[in-house]
Amino acid sequence: MSTQHLRNLSPGADLRTPRPLLSPAAELGRSVRGTPLDRVEPRASRGARAELTGWTSYDPRFASDVLSGLSQPRKSIPPTWLYDQRGSQLFEAITELPEYYATRSEISLLRSCAGAIAARIGPDATVIEIGSGSSRKTPLLLGAVQRPYAYVPVDISGAFLMHSAALLRGRFPDLRIMPVVADFMRPVQLPHALRFAPASGRRLVFFPGSTIGNLEPDEAAACLARLGALCGPNGMIVLGVDENRDEETLLPAYNDAAGVTAAFDLNLLERINRELGGTFDVGAFRHEARYDRERHRIEMHLVSVREQSAEVLGRSFAFAQGETIHTENSYKFDRAAIDSIAKQAKLQRVADWREDRGRFAVHLLAPCA
Ligand SMILES: C[S@@+](CC[C@H](N)C(=O)[O-])C[C@H]1O[C@@H](n2cnc3c(N)ncnc32)[C@H](O)[C@@H]1O
Repeated sequence: MSTQHLRNLSPGADLRTPRPLLSPAAELGRSVRGTPLDRVEPRASRGARAELTGWTSYDPRFASDVLSGLSQPRKSIPPTWLYDQRGSQLFEAITELPEYYATRSEISLLRSCAGAIAARIGPDATVIEIGSGSSRKTPLLLGAVQRPYAYVPVDISGAFLMHSAALLRGRFPDLRIMPVVADFMRPVQLPHALRFAPASGRRLVFFPGSTIGNLEPDEAAACLARLGALCGPNGMIVLGVDENRDEETLLPAYNDAAGVTAAFDLNLLERINRELGGTFDVGAFRHEARYDRERHRIEMHLVSVREQSAEVLGRSFAFAQGETIHTENSYKFDRAAIDSIAKQAKLQRVADWREDRGRFAVHLLAPCA
């Protein structure tokens, strides 16, 4: 395809090119700094890049979040976009690190409480996991539930989700495994086949990994309310939450000696370069983890090591030396914070379990009667 041809096309207009996941006109119609995004024209010199990077097939939600996030006085990009295939693989590597206590703590907690959770939810339950990633913790619940009817892992990182589901099929060959690629920041559409689930089987929504901590407290309450709707009046939610507020263990957990968390964070810039025709000099940014004591949250930032500019989809963004892109928050919600968020979501605590050092908790929540 000639570069001239590419310049005259709106993304996805040619059936021979990969199509965007959503309608770019609808999704990108919102303006950034007053310029309607669907009028952003790649410059002539960028045509060749378009062919190389494939930015005819970008995800318009990713493009919109990146362009609007980089246009703010304090640049930020939602943490969801850290998870492409490579990001998911790097996150898995993080969970194995000596500094990253959260996964080990949650697994050991689930080992001790899965039986009690299974007894409360009863037989024939459908387990729906939100932000399922590798589904590494799921066998602990699936193995405890009596005759689980189905397992529905939900994640935005599609290829990684499908791979994880295939691996799990090998381990639970008789279980219906129905992966759903979806954004948990919106209502999730469950597979229609769940209509055939036995009426007696309840829904158990599993939201592990303290992923809820990546949301602002008001977003977390809205997310839990959607999960309450997903599990229905008879269902329950298993929520894994990092409660640690000790800076000495938190900072290394988000800035490990081997540099895996740094690679995970910097992969966002590589992803922008790959998918959105970005021109970031990735080596001119460094990863930094900070702890905000007042808000009880870890922040991840990509710090510009020099004055520079980068282009994304033909738009230029300037960076001063030391300026950052804020890429993730990880709130450390204690019991009281979870109580408040659950109350806003019209959920109540049925039980909770805490590991010895009080760093990680598993909450069992249910919709208020
Ligand atoms: C912190 S990791 C946790 C992974 C795994 N559940 C665990 O406990 O180790 C967050 C997971 O949520 C997924 N995720 C992030 N934002 C999402 C979104 N908006 N919608 C759906 N999945 C999302 C990521 O792809 C990733 O698998």
